[in-house]
Amino acid sequence: MKIFIIITFLLTALSSYDIITPIKTLKINKAKAKLGIDLFFDSSFSKDGKISCASCHQPGYGWADPRKVSAGIYGRKGVIQSPTVLNAVYNFKQMWNGRFKDLYEQINGPTHDSSEMGATNEHIEKIINKEPYKSKFQKIYKKDYNTYKMFQNAIVEFEKFLTTPDSKFDLYLKGKDVLSKDEKRGYELFVKTGCIVCHNGKNVGGNNFSKIGVVNNKKMAFVRDRYSITHKKIDIHVYKVPSLRNIALTSPYFHTGDIKDLKVAIRTMGYMNLGVDLDDKQIELIYKFLLTLTGKSPDIGSLR
Ligand code: HEC
Ligand code: HEC
Repeated sequence: MKIFIIITFLLTALSSYDIITPIKTLKINKAKAKLGIDLFFDSSFSKDGKISCASCHQPGYGWADPRKVSAGIYGRKGVIQSPTVLNAVYNFKQMWNGRFKDLYEQINGPTHDSSEMGATNEHIEKIINKEPYKSKFQKIYKKDYNTYKMFQNAIVEFEKFLTTPDSKFDLYLKGKDVLSKDEKRGYELFVKTGCIVCHNGKNVGGNNFSKIGVVNNKKMAFVRDRYSITHKKIDIHVYKVPSLRNIALTSPYFHTGDIKDLKVAIRTMGYMNLGVDLDDKQIELIYKFLLTLTGKSPDIGSLR
């Protein structure tokens, strides 16, 4: 029965799977995005004045967090690994369990969470209605009173800037670069073994939900799965399939942050979700393919 369900699942997924497509940069409002940078890096919005978005989405670590879980205000530890904000704009839903429909709604999470920034809308509005923000906002939004909604709007505009085009793989797709023999074999394995069933589309993921442990289960924390919001049995241990773009930069891996080594993550995926024991050579090849998904870092200086 179990195997039947798995095969049906894979066939349905395969028949509708989307190949990997290159990503583009998005048109943005520069003035808003520039303001968004200031907001993203400013810790005065948090309750203890010490935590900004960038505390957990660190530019030097692929805009993710190198720690297993992040620390929020007063050193409070989170429960789940911080994903990258790079290319998040292309994810069909936000957060590991997809509880927010878009980037705009997502901002309500960290700003209000008592173990992240612990702020209220009033606290944020107080700051953006004082200098240096007051006039910066008024110049863009042209209102007497600056609102939390404007704060969200400016950060989202900045997040739209955080895309990473021109990875080696995208250039290959566009016929502007060639993959090495190993990279190409790695890509073929990625397709043939079935990784692409879940990790596909623009973000090589980020466009569907899947269970972790489809074939084999491993001991994991399984915190904040889809079940925790839908309470449907089918959503137990289900998460948004993460994007594999820039994956080499965003260790540790999985929602638990349990795995530091990308090769171990590849092996684990093969075992848990495909029921295959990839050997060292195969893992090495897939690894080399995954490295070609690192794109060009957004140049924040170009906005300033
Ligand atoms: C204390 C650490 C912390 C802070 C501060 C923080 N985040 Fe996050 N961020 C996380 C964690 C952890 C998650 C995953 C939460 C989950 O899935 O339940 C996350 C998820 C996200 C996502 C979803 C990405 C995806 O692929 O689903 C975005 C976008 C994001 N954060 C943007 C922001 C912005 C913007 C701010 C500032 C307003 C911010 N974060 C502040 C830790 C943090
Ligand atoms: C049936 C769907 C499915 C298949 C097939 C699949 N994955 Fe995944 N993958 C997921 C899900 C869901 C997660 C998130 C799991 C978690 O965090 O608990 C994930 C996570 C990952 C991660 C960690 C990402 C991060 O940001 O932490 C890597 C790397 C990865 N997969 C690579 C692969 C490779 C390589 C293959 C093929 C050998 C593969 N996946 C096959 C669904 C799948």
